[in-house]
Amino acid sequence: MNSPLDDGNSGSNLLRKVHHQRSALEVRDLRMVFRVAEIEIHALKGVDLLVRAGEFVAIMGPSGCGKSTLLHILGGLLQPTSGEVYVDGVDIARISDSERTEIRRRKIGFVFQRFNLLPTLTARDNLRLAREIRNGRQPQDIEGIVSLVGLNEKLRHKPYELSGGEQQRLGIARAIINHPAILLADEPTGNLDSTNSEMVLTLLKTLNEQYKQTTIMITHDPDAASYASRIVEMKDGRILNRVQNVIYAMGTGTVF
Ligand SMILES: Nc1ncnc2c1ncn2[C@@H]1O[C@H](COP(=O)(O)OP(=O)(O)O)[C@@H](O)[C@H]1O
Ligand SMILES: [Mg+2]
Repeated sequence: MNSPLDDGNSGSNLLRKVHHQRSALEVRDLRMVFRVAEIEIHALKGVDLLVRAGEFVAIMGPSGCGKSTLLHILGGLLQPTSGEVYVDGVDIARISDSERTEIRRRKIGFVFQRFNLLPTLTARDNLRLAREIRNGRQPQDIEGIVSLVGLNEKLRHKPYELSGGEQQRLGIARAIINHPAILLADEPTGNLDSTNSEMVLTLLKTLNEQYKQTTIMITHDPDAASYASRIVEMKDGRILNRVQNVIYAMGTGTVF
């Protein structure tokens, strides 16, 4: 096709022209190759993505298409093979491991499918520890954040004394305790029943709408994705609706 928006590289070219207002995240031509013995796995094959501050983006796509790899790179857990990854203005693909760790602590909050809470600590101590690790910006006070996620009565409980939904709400409280620029969630409702999923998704949406928390969430579930303000579809290491996403990010196009 010869549309001006549709010649192979147009996504990247358009992105380069965007003098973005306030982007929380900008990814350009991101590639990730894993090498296992003699085999190369091309997990990401040139991903462009721009997420504006305050957006709630859902990433969908079949298993193995590169969603978690993308999220791990966005969160500074993994260094890409090539490409640029601007988190809050800093290219985290091009800095040392220790600088990346520092950025991750200050700017990123992670929510995991399996909650990843510390099992021997109470809810309060899980939050305290996270607050201490993420020094830097003004931390949220624990009481405030706990009432936000509705766990006031559960501060002395250990994770195994909480339901799955409560554990995930604690996981979210931990992730946002230091006002991260971006909240990254990898299948946050993947281990929850529908009632608890709904509570967790409602919480994420509230954080996004009321507190302008920029959020990127991976999900398999179209119902979960419907809580987001934009859906990005991936397949085989690429973003499918890449051009629409670039247009949307430029603020001129259609949201779908
Ligand atoms: N650490 C790794 N080493 C080797 N291959 C990996 C590694 N992590 C992911 N992969 C491979 O990269 C591809 C994308 O994986 P992933 O990002 O986990 O997909 P998704 O989250 O969409 O299911 C898969 O083929 C997977 O097997
Ligand atoms: Mg995954």
